[in-house]
Amino acid sequence: MERENFNSKIGAILAVAGSAVGLGNIWRFPTEAGNNGGAAFLLIYIGFMLLLGVPIMVSEFVIGRHSQTSVVQSFYKMSGGKKWWKLMGLIPVIAGFLVLSYYAVVAGWTLYYAFQAGVDGFAGKTPDEIGADFQAFRTDAVTSLIWIAIILIVNCAIVALGVKKGIERGAKIMMPLLFVFVLVLVVCSFSLPGTAAGLQFLFHPDFSKVTGATLLNAMGQAFFSLSVGLCCLCTYATYFKKEVNLMKDGIHVATIDTIVAICAGLIIFPAVFSINGLTPSEGPSLVFVTLPNVFHQAFGSYPIVAYTFSLIFYLLLVMAALTSSISMLEMVVAYFYHEIKVSRPLASIGITVVCLILGMFCSFSFGILENVTLFGLGFFDLFDFIVAKIIMPIGGLLICIFLGWVVDEKVLRNEITNMGTLRAPYYKVYRFIIRYLAPIAILLIFVNQF
Ligand code: PFF
Repeated sequence: MERENFNSKIGAILAVAGSAVGLGNIWRFPTEAGNNGGAAFLLIYIGFMLLLGVPIMVSEFVIGRHSQTSVVQSFYKMSGGKKWWKLMGLIPVIAGFLVLSYYAVVAGWTLYYAFQAGVDGFAGKTPDEIGADFQAFRTDAVTSLIWIAIILIVNCAIVALGVKKGIERGAKIMMPLLFVFVLVLVVCSFSLPGTAAGLQFLFHPDFSKVTGATLLNAMGQAFFSLSVGLCCLCTYATYFKKEVNLMKDGIHVATIDTIVAICAGLIIFPAVFSINGLTPSEGPSLVFVTLPNVFHQAFGSYPIVAYTFSLIFYLLLVMAALTSSISMLEMVVAYFYHEIKVSRPLASIGITVVCLILGMFCSFSFGILENVTLFGLGFFDLFDFIVAKIIMPIGGLLICIFLGWVVDEKVLRNEITNMGTLRAPYYKVYRFIIRYLAPIAILLIFVNQF
C-alpha cells in the first residue's frame, strides 16, 4: 500500500496545528485558567509547553517520520523487534477510540450551538432560560446524539478522502478561516467595558493560588492542547517529507497553539468581566451557558453585532473541534489501513460507528445514565480522566524513555538533523530533556496526583 505524503510544508504545519488547536484551546484553556488563578496558570502552562510539550511533540515526529508505519509497528520496529514495545503501541490505538468518543460529544454541542446562533436562538432569552436550555439539550438523548452523529459523519468523510485530499485540504481551508475568526473576535471583545479587568486577570499573576494540583492541571492542559502523549502526531509525521525541520515545525505549532489559547482568553475574559456578577471560574459550562448570555448582554444595543459575534464564535469552535477530531480518527484509521489492510473508507466508517456508540454512553452520562458511575465518575468524565490524566502523561513518559533510552542514538540525531544536513545546536538540550528532565518531571507530577 503506497504511503501518501502531505503535499506542502505549509500543509503539514497546518494539519498538525489543526490537531493541536481545538476545543482544548477555546473551551478547556479558559476554563482551566479561570479555575486555577488566571495568569499564574498561564505562565506555568507556557513553561510546561516549552520544557515538556515541544520536546515530546518533536519525539512523536521522530518516531513517525523514521518508522513510516503505524504506531504499533513503529514501536516494534524501532525497538529492534521487542514484543513488549509492540504491545505499548496498541495503547494509542485504544486511546484513539476513547478520546474521539468523548471529544465528539462536545464537538456535537458546538455544532448545535452554531446552529442555534445561526437561527438567532439565544436572542431575548434570560440567563436562566439559556442555562435551562443547555441542561435540556444535554439531557435529551436523541437530540444530542443526532448532533454528535453529524459531526462524526463529517469527520469520517474528510478522513475517508485521504491524506492530501481530505486532511491536508481540510486544514488548509479551515485553519486560515479559524485565525481570521479569532482575530475578529478579539477585536470585538476589546470594545467591551470589561477589557481592563479581563487583561488584568489573564496577565497579572497571583502565585498564592498555585498548588500541586495547579501543576498537574497545567501539565495536563499543555499535553492535551498540543495533542501529545497519544502518538497522534506520530501518525501525522509519517506523512512528513524528509526535508521537514522537525524542531522548527514543533516550535511553530506550539507557538500557534499558545497564541490561539491566549486569544481565546482575550475573547472570553473581557466578555465575562463586562457583566456584573459573573466570574471566570464558571467551569465547563462557561462556553455554552455563560457566553451566549454575555454576547447578548454585552452587545445588547447592537443586536446584529451580538448575532454575528455568537455565530462566528460557535463556528470557530466547530472548526477547531473538527480539525482535532480528524487527527484522532486518522490515528486509528492509519492503523487499520496500513496494518490490517482494511480500505480507508471502510476503516473510517467502522471506527466512526464504534465511536458513535461509545460517544452515546458519554453523552447519556449527562442524562439517562447519570447514575451509572465507575470510581465516582460518569462515562464522559471517566473517559476524560483516563485519557487526559492517565494515558497522556504515561504516553509522554514512555515516548521519552523509548527515544531517550531504547532507540539507537544515531536514529534520533539523524532525524533531528535531517541526516546531518541541518545544524542543530539544540540537539544536546533536547536529548537531555527527553532522557532525564521530562521523565522525572512527569513521574513526580503524576505520582503526586494520587
Ligand atoms: N489538541 C486538541 C485540543 O486542544 O482540543 C485535542 C487533542 C487532539 C488531544 C488530538 C489528543 C489528540 F490526540
